[in-house]
Amino acid sequence: MLSPPETSPFRAFSAPGRINLIGDHTDYNGGFALPAAIDMATSVTIAARADRRISASAEKFSEVVEFPIGVEPLRRGDWGDYVAGVAWILQGAGLVLQGGHLRIESDVPLGAGLSSSAALEVAVALALLGISGIEMDRRKLASLCQRAENDFVGVRCGIMDQLTACMGRQDHALLLDCRSLEIKYLPIPAQVRLAVCNSMVKHNLASGGYNQRRAECDEAVAALSRFLPNVTQLRDVSMEELERNSSSLSATAFRRCRHVVGENQRTLAAAEALGRNDVAGLGPLMNESHRSLRDDYEVSCAELDILVELAQSHAGVYGSRMTGGGFGGCTISVVDESAIESFQQAVREGYARRTGVMCEIYICQAAAGAREEVSAQ
Ligand code: GLA
Repeated sequence: MLSPPETSPFRAFSAPGRINLIGDHTDYNGGFALPAAIDMATSVTIAARADRRISASAEKFSEVVEFPIGVEPLRRGDWGDYVAGVAWILQGAGLVLQGGHLRIESDVPLGAGLSSSAALEVAVALALLGISGIEMDRRKLASLCQRAENDFVGVRCGIMDQLTACMGRQDHALLLDCRSLEIKYLPIPAQVRLAVCNSMVKHNLASGGYNQRRAECDEAVAALSRFLPNVTQLRDVSMEELERNSSSLSATAFRRCRHVVGENQRTLAAAEALGRNDVAGLGPLMNESHRSLRDDYEVSCAELDILVELAQSHAGVYGSRMTGGGFGGCTISVVDESAIESFQQAVREGYARRTGVMCEIYICQAAAGAREEVSAQ
């Protein structure tokens, strides 16, 4: 591996992946989501360089990425774009970065809907800011990382993943208001386990379906706001207003909106249930969310549906749904701790029987957000 000139000792920073209990495809509509950061993370060790260049290597990939500071980097179409995009956006915000070499390691599965991209962006941003001696408010950090993904990588994602990576709290889910960026922390009940089942179908949000959904929502807002002048985002529309104005929308656009409007209501209800420690109340909302993502928003896939069916029919499972952007990736199931062993066995066997594929299952803990590691070399 290339070893660039290093002028300082290493510092290490990490940022977690996330699951989302409920509230998908609501963030870019100004709505609500209920994610938790998890105990899978991306870590970046960084050493300052004497020159005005940033370089990076990643444990999982052989190439080294290198670019000068102050010039818009070329898009490579791979993981390097997240590093280059973050550096470019931080500079665009007027920050003076110091050159550095970053070494990236991660145990967040890639392209699995657990927000490996945001974990990388946030860890890289913290590392670059750290060696440059710049302190930044966490919400601002999340917004700049989102901008890197929107404007440089080209995925028009919302703020959920970056905000969760920045603001996660151990043993807590976060009710996010994705418009005001307000957060309410809700403890995850001690008797449940968060079981993440990976369909092993890789999703690639850059490949179109995600941005297309977002564009459909924007078009629906433009159509609805002709009749509902106060509407600037789907967050502002009630189910009653949507139904009353359905003739201004195509059948597909109506279903997309019905998902978003319903999902916001479900997410607020789920947060209330969690606040009462009422896991039995949370479960059916998760199940209904999956149905809506599958039928109305059409971002599930056959493999995710199988995982959800297997989970929902298992005793001791409160609720199960796809989690994140969809088109592959993972499901999240809230499982009673007494049923966690039989759940894993039933889902593994059932999924292998029906698809011929072995799924991976991760039992996750809700974890803290991004931080500097104390034990740097
Ligand atoms: C991806 C995006 C998020 C969010 C989810 C769907 O994870 O990065 O901003 O839109 O999909 O809820």
